[in-house]
Amino acid sequence: MRKQQNYQWPEITLGTCYYPEHWERGLWAKDLERMLASGITTIRIGEFAWSKVEPEEGRFTYEFFDDFLAVVASTPMKVIFGTPTATPPAWLTNRYPEVLNCRIDGVKYQHGMRRHYNYNSPVYRKFCKRIVEKLGEHYAKHPNVVGWQIDNEINCETAEFYSDSDIAAFRKFLQRKYETLEKLNTAWGAVFWNQEYTDWEEIYVPRLTIHNSTNPHQMLDYIRFISDSAVSFCKMQSDILRKYVKPGDFITTNGMFQNMDNHRMTDEALDVYTYDSYPNFAYCLTEDPKHAANLNDRRWSNNLSQVRSVCPHFGIMEQQSGANGWNTRMEAPAPKPGQMMLWAMQSIAHGADFVSFFRWRTSVMGTEIYWHGILDYDNRDNRKLEEVRKIYKRVQTIKDLAGASYRAAFGIVQDYSNIWDSQVDVWHQRLVWSSEEEIFIASQIYHTPMDYVYLLEDTQVDELVEYPVLFYPHGLILSEQKAAVLKEYVEQGGCLILGARTGLKDETGKCVMTPMPGLLAEITGSDVKDFTFVGPADEEVLMEWNGQKMDTGIFHDILDTTGEEAMVLARYTSDYYKGRAALVENTFGKGKVLHFGGTFTRENVKAFLAYAGILEPWNALLDVPEGCEIGIREKGGKNWIFVLNYMNKEQEITLKAAGIDLDTEERVQGRVRLSAYETKVYQIDIAL
Ligand code: GAL
Repeated sequence: MRKQQNYQWPEITLGTCYYPEHWERGLWAKDLERMLASGITTIRIGEFAWSKVEPEEGRFTYEFFDDFLAVVASTPMKVIFGTPTATPPAWLTNRYPEVLNCRIDGVKYQHGMRRHYNYNSPVYRKFCKRIVEKLGEHYAKHPNVVGWQIDNEINCETAEFYSDSDIAAFRKFLQRKYETLEKLNTAWGAVFWNQEYTDWEEIYVPRLTIHNSTNPHQMLDYIRFISDSAVSFCKMQSDILRKYVKPGDFITTNGMFQNMDNHRMTDEALDVYTYDSYPNFAYCLTEDPKHAANLNDRRWSNNLSQVRSVCPHFGIMEQQSGANGWNTRMEAPAPKPGQMMLWAMQSIAHGADFVSFFRWRTSVMGTEIYWHGILDYDNRDNRKLEEVRKIYKRVQTIKDLAGASYRAAFGIVQDYSNIWDSQVDVWHQRLVWSSEEEIFIASQIYHTPMDYVYLLEDTQVDELVEYPVLFYPHGLILSEQKAAVLKEYVEQGGCLILGARTGLKDETGKCVMTPMPGLLAEITGSDVKDFTFVGPADEEVLMEWNGQKMDTGIFHDILDTTGEEAMVLARYTSDYYKGRAALVENTFGKGKVLHFGGTFTRENVKAFLAYAGILEPWNALLDVPEGCEIGIREKGGKNWIFVLNYMNKEQEITLKAAGIDLDTEERVQGRVRLSAYETKVYQIDIAL
């Protein structure tokens, strides 16, 4: 797990997103008072309010937020100020249309939504620098301001950019990376289909093509370029804010979206990372049903694990507090009684030390009239506000856990080149999406908590060795540096589990001619002799492992041993490769590698976890059914044990060791019933 983060909340803290520009001034003081009375001590403001400060080009007025902050100043409320660059004003986009982003066919997006700008327009950057400078200069010293949010949800709404400024910046990015066209042509395999470039001006961001199919190596660089542009846009703002923020205050940004190296952004521009958690998307009636198929809101635990890998003690800038809905898209049921608490506890169990609800009161205007907040339009006390109060009550019993670490039993290795390659390569995507989902589900239903662990340019073996077991499901792209860190991990005693197609490609996304698993062959002691997708008409191919038959997923690498230490643990049971190796184990240094030819399924993951000796690590403490998640955070030898019931019906758990229920402060042991959506936090005085 990554250690670095410059800011940490001193105690578990609640907040909400507030838009003073949406309400009559007469409501401000009353709203703040009601928030404080409900345990909300931080608000985020300003992230879409550019025109309130620069109503026309070059004319700055601070009156609006000065007035609002004067009201805040008479209370202990803390403020996170947002830079408003996600919504450029109409005067700006109208006078300088080059700041607008375009569709892939070059048609400009127009004013009226948000995030319609491009990161690379020098004109937009100039205006952003100025507004951020003015805001920082004027507001950062305010005693109630404690932090800054840059923009809003970098790469949300769209993560693709096709404006003229992006084309120009992409060429520069490539010139920096490759220096010569010869190197670029080689890296992109441009000789294929006669794509060789003879002038930098011939190169574009991806454009409309037949089947929307663009050179895959170019696509991979294009995604790297988007990430690079977003990071530099964010850093530009953070460099300005740094001049003004008070010591102890923080800079963050919110969200987690595609085409973004969140680790690099955090390292280069932020003090702490914040995420927007909307588990109710799982019930959005018009969303892709595939997303609702498994585990519903519980799958946000997977997102939160991703967030934790960027920043172990993160914040939730927007935590769902009402039904989702825009007037133009999406509808969903309201959270049921108990679900707001459940989702807040899900965030905290996974590492959040700050939870800020979106939003205080539902907007009565605009696209988000159906994106519900804590209060409804009528502004009366309601069951959601009551639930916030309950959350606050709970938070008071656990507030000391801020900074406590999440306890994972194993890690899943990630790497941006592979994430991005799987977006442009459908073979890669089918394998990795299916395996990662299945590993996550296995981790949930077999109560074996996991972390994501990123292989970054500077990842050291120490970050890996804290995990006795690492899955790297389908590391198609390998580099010398990443292979070397994995080798060290195994040498020092780690158990590395690899799946099909490992080592197929290099960093450009081109296939290598070395037999798979390529750069890892030395530590796997294995070789891939043949391979196939499982066809729709094929009978299911199992593997036999220790006398037990189990499924092998959707793709099969047919393996062989090469190393002297290597041995076949399991063989395929049918089809033309019946009897051939499906799983090879190799000892290397103090550790071992399990090279599996298939893709991961919840059933085979269970067998891998059991084989590695880490299945259900908390089994001696408590027994919980599949419908509940266990999350444990630890600090200074103290453990907070969260049990989260995602089911809409009662669940029974058994505490095998005695523990304190932190709500009642009573000592409990044995059977406990959790009502629908109920959560518990226990402290159990036993060494874990
Ligand atoms: C987030 C965004 C908020 C609000 C919310 C509900 O993505 O940051 O500004 O739009 O979703 O749609």
